[in-house]
Amino acid sequence: MQPSQTLIEQAAAACARGTKGVALTGAGISVESGIPPFRGKGGLWEKIDPMKYAHIDALVSNPAEVWEVLFRGIGELLTTATPNAGHLGLQRLEQMGILQTVITQNVDGLHQKAGSSDVIEFHGTHAVLRCMGCHVRSDWQAITLDRIPPVCPCGAYLRPDVVMFGEPIDVGLLRRSQILSANCDVMLVVGTSATVEPAAYLPLIAKDRGAFIIEINPEPTPLTDRVSDVTLLGPAGEVMERIVAAVANIQGRSL
Ligand code: APR
Repeated sequence: MQPSQTLIEQAAAACARGTKGVALTGAGISVESGIPPFRGKGGLWEKIDPMKYAHIDALVSNPAEVWEVLFRGIGELLTTATPNAGHLGLQRLEQMGILQTVITQNVDGLHQKAGSSDVIEFHGTHAVLRCMGCHVRSDWQAITLDRIPPVCPCGAYLRPDVVMFGEPIDVGLLRRSQILSANCDVMLVVGTSATVEPAAYLPLIAKDRGAFIIEINPEPTPLTDRVSDVTLLGPAGEVMERIVAAVANIQGRSL
């Protein structure tokens, strides 16, 4: 499935007018990098129950099982993943002076690898470990997974520095994301089911303050036809390539 060229050009025209653009991304943007999403067909939550393995209470009461079932597998997946045309397209929009910031719910670091310079990791990062006792952060290189869960020099268990269900979003990141959303002129909502708060609320803030909302997703979401001004039904990589080409065309014409 591919959106029509008319819709691509509507989205490109809104991007070309933008100078304070924000992207909100979710697991779908990394699907073409080989990382499965959480919800829907082939999603991680089809295979494991998130309340059993991705809730903070599960980690506190059974850290070894959460490490074995969730963290170890994700860690292995992320070490080999590379950015795809979706991540690279957002970085190109930044280079073109359109996009300021990427707010991502992903913990895979692929926007930074693609070269985006201002990335808000709304749900933290899997690339860093944090001690559950003394809260000191450390690298994966500092540990081995011979013993699960890995232990901090202070004696408490280590965990990836991600936001689990039941945990709050960092207040500073939340506040900054809300302000950027309120002040952006165009928001690209890419590869998120837009079902998990408070991230799902950011497009509503942007829309309420007059931003043009472009949604990119092979499936409709709760934002489609309600909040999104243009919905491009298709995979992020292919759609982003077409948007970037159409924006380059507009910018070339206006030189
Ligand atoms: N390109 C773009 N979007 C895609 C693609 C693709 N190639 N493949 C799938 N999608 C879409 C799906 O249609 C779905 O709407 O990506 C979305 C993924 O949704 P979720 O799995 O719910 O991911 P996300 O929105 O990031 O979830 C939010 O929920 O479980 C928590 O903490 C986790 O950060 C995550 C949060």
